[in-house]
Amino acid sequence: MQLIILTSETDFDGWRKAARSLVLHRIDPADVTWTVQGQSQVPSGLSEVSHLPPIETEGTFSVPANFIELARLAILHRDGDRFALLYRLLWRLKSDHDLLATMSDPDVAQANARGNAVRRDAQRMRDVVRFREIGREHKAHYAAWFAPEHHIVEFTAPFFARRFADMPWSILTPDVCAHWDGHAISFTPGISQMEMPAPSKLEETWRRHFQPDRQQTLQDEPRTRRRNLPEASILEPLLSDAERWTGGRMNPRPEISMARKPATDDLETLREEAAHCRACPLWKDATQIVFGEGPRNATIMLVGEQPGDKEDLAGHPFVGPAGQMLDRALEEAGIDRKKVYVTNAVKHFKFVPRGKIRLHQKPVTPEIRACRQWYERELAAIDPALVVAMGATAAQSVFGKITPVGKTRGRLIDLDGDRKALVTVHPSYLLRLPDEEAKKLEYQRFVDDLRIAAAQQKKAARAA
Ligand code: URA
Repeated sequence: MQLIILTSETDFDGWRKAARSLVLHRIDPADVTWTVQGQSQVPSGLSEVSHLPPIETEGTFSVPANFIELARLAILHRDGDRFALLYRLLWRLKSDHDLLATMSDPDVAQANARGNAVRRDAQRMRDVVRFREIGREHKAHYAAWFAPEHHIVEFTAPFFARRFADMPWSILTPDVCAHWDGHAISFTPGISQMEMPAPSKLEETWRRHFQPDRQQTLQDEPRTRRRNLPEASILEPLLSDAERWTGGRMNPRPEISMARKPATDDLETLREEAAHCRACPLWKDATQIVFGEGPRNATIMLVGEQPGDKEDLAGHPFVGPAGQMLDRALEEAGIDRKKVYVTNAVKHFKFVPRGKIRLHQKPVTPEIRACRQWYERELAAIDPALVVAMGATAAQSVFGKITPVGKTRGRLIDLDGDRKALVTVHPSYLLRLPDEEAKKLEYQRFVDDLRIAAAQQKKAARAA
């Protein structure tokens, strides 16, 4: 067994060098353990680094350029298995040069999901980092707080150096802090999350970084006076921003993010927030979140179970076979899909890999519960007159408890206020029926249920 110790979480060059050497020595991925220097957990039975003998002949092999591009990104993902995953891919690429084109391959899908997650996180950092001027009475400096999901600070810092080339800035994060002095970027250790949003700690952090000469003075100030110091006015807005940028992401428990729920959510903000949801583990293997879609003023909200394979890859709900079935039935019932909001109870694809395909798995209650916050917030944002729950998972989310479809199907049920719910089957149930006759009958019943929804839509339009 080879133990490879990389110098940091973002040591791509170290990984590349080691991986190249391992491949040339024909060392199977199952025989390699990857870790990062200073990590307390050294796997049992591996207390020392094993050194590979030097390669005698200059061995080479080529890998597709898009693999290097993907590996550079995916290595920044926070999951501990990424080094091993990328080595496994590299190993397999040697005998299957086109492997990366097989999107359903579990290793390829996972590496892409990790690369995409990193890309999105870097974009989020570029979008939300807001600098505040600090230390005006000395020399102006600008600072921001950000909590990245992944190890993206070094990767994204050059963007800020280009964009804010004329101002000295610092971006504080729990992993690493990036600083720009107008000439060069430097990095210092991160600020622990435990330290983070407490005001006094934030103040200390600021002093440590930017105003060492004022440190003692500030420490000695009584609390009431401290509030009147120039730093206080700088710190307060920064702190509220820090809470806003941090909230929900550091603590994935759904009830925390519910507590932060604004009165009315803007759908775009909601979508952006949901993209970072870690309330259950399904995000890890999914390509991306598949959030609801449709007009903000929709009177009908259709709720499915969870995205399938096609939806996971496309990032849109109901675009695969079940979606085609749904579209046909909606049209027959007289409902224009463009006018309804379509979403799912669970917003990440749950599957098990089976060879080249990803087999759909039914979400379990903790996953439905963890994801319910997003359904509730979509409901508040759209405020539809009718919610159509398609299938048992959707019904469980809509009613907040296990709700058998057979007992509730096809009738209007009161929700809060004037809002109604309608339970029907899931379109993929129709796809699974083996008997053609039963399929026809059940499809007709599904259309009949949707006609009830169409009537409600007309009623809501008249009332508006
Ligand atoms: N099934 C669902 O429940 N939702 C989709 O988006 C696709 C298939």
